[in-house]
Amino acid sequence: MSETKKLFIKTYGCQMNVYDSERMAEALGSKGYVQTEKQEEADMILLNTCHIREKAAEKVYSELGRLKPLKDVNPNLKIGVAGCVAQAEGQEIMRRAPVVDLVVGPQTYHRLPDMETAIQSGAKALDTDFPEEDKFAILNKTRAKAKRGPTAFLTVQEGCDKFCAFCVVPYTRGAEVSRPKDRILAEARDLVEAGVREITLLGQNVNAYHGHDKGLAGLIWDLAEIDGLDRIRFTTSHPNDMDDALIEAHGTCEKLMPYLHLPVQSGSDKILKAMNRKHTRDDYFRLIDRIRGARPDLVLSGDFIVGFPGETDQDFEDTMDLIRQVNYGMAFTFKYSTRPGTPAAEKPQLPDDLMDARLQELQALITKQQRDTQDSMVGREVNVLFEKKGRMAGQLIGKTEYLHACYVEAPEEALGKIHKVRIKESGPNSLGGVLV
Ligand code: SAH
Ligand code: SF4
Ligand code: F3S
Repeated sequence: MSETKKLFIKTYGCQMNVYDSERMAEALGSKGYVQTEKQEEADMILLNTCHIREKAAEKVYSELGRLKPLKDVNPNLKIGVAGCVAQAEGQEIMRRAPVVDLVVGPQTYHRLPDMETAIQSGAKALDTDFPEEDKFAILNKTRAKAKRGPTAFLTVQEGCDKFCAFCVVPYTRGAEVSRPKDRILAEARDLVEAGVREITLLGQNVNAYHGHDKGLAGLIWDLAEIDGLDRIRFTTSHPNDMDDALIEAHGTCEKLMPYLHLPVQSGSDKILKAMNRKHTRDDYFRLIDRIRGARPDLVLSGDFIVGFPGETDQDFEDTMDLIRQVNYGMAFTFKYSTRPGTPAAEKPQLPDDLMDARLQELQALITKQQRDTQDSMVGREVNVLFEKKGRMAGQLIGKTEYLHACYVEAPEEALGKIHKVRIKESGPNSLGGVLV
């Protein structure tokens, strides 16, 4: 058995990176690494990076600059870059940042143990292939069964074939691939055995999942059979892949939570077309009507981009109008960021101050809708899955089925369990309630 070494992982970007970081830690566990929260004591530091916007990508280089002095203190420290920036700019990272020992893409991190051996002998290692073998099949052998918290992510689908004109994901994560359902069900059972009550199924385009003959809905129904698994969520979905079975599941599957992240990006038909989203605003309205028909209390969430090339005041107004009509419980808003290699990068860009002004206006509307949705919970009875202790003694924090954070005075035994709660108050970012 090799000696214990310490691993520090910093994760950027989406939930899929959170999941990948966990799996990378497990993979390196086979080489004697245990995770640490303190980067100063680490023998290896991994940055799991995101390439979605320019700012996200640039952060990596400034972080690497900050890590450099740590290497002067501990010459044995190894530094690795993983994730989507690694995939997109692997060679450039090696060139621009000599402190980096290892670069690994999102599809090859099952090879980390071998790469670790290579860098221990002083070599550099770079692997950004899209390999034939299924990394999860290899990684599954090391899936930890140690006790863990009540919620977990589980990646079921990776990559994207949609090629929205602004987006790097089809390039950094590759083509759509679905994991076989049996492996997912086995992983879910392991998670439940380790104490997990709620699983969020992940995919860049999760509702395009086709590892089950009945699609994502079929997988959800199979997962719902697992005793001890109480809640199922999924993210992120594309409007064009919301099929009838999935909409129906929102109405009939009790374990499927009434919350849906369904990004539309823009409310202007002209911009939707230029973005290559392949649906109109009316298609989206009709879809939302059907989903709410199946599950009237469903809380909707979305993503919006302002300042896409060619966006006029009227196009932006169309987006504001769509948001007013749909009413979101939550949404992420982004200023368009030019990404190298994407079709939209070739188009004339809008001025930064115009984008800033639109972002502010949109953000204000979203904030109001978020707050109104949260406030509307006051007086209602909801179910809270308690995840951890609150700041005040005797207080626990959990999430409602609608994904609102909720503080409740409750005994510690309630941790990891679901309880009925009556909501008493709504604060800036959370609800407060009492056990029923
Ligand atoms: N697969 C998901 C989104 C993945 S990226 C979907 O299709 O909805 C998450 C979000 O980042 C996107 O929904 C989009 O709103 C935003 N985004 C992606 N590329 C961007 C860019 N170049 N500039 C600004 N925001 C971007
Ligand atoms: Fe990117 Fe579009 Fe694919 Fe989402 S659907 S990951 S925005 S290309
Ligand atoms: Fe970022 Fe890659 Fe996720 S670019 S958003 S980490 S898929």
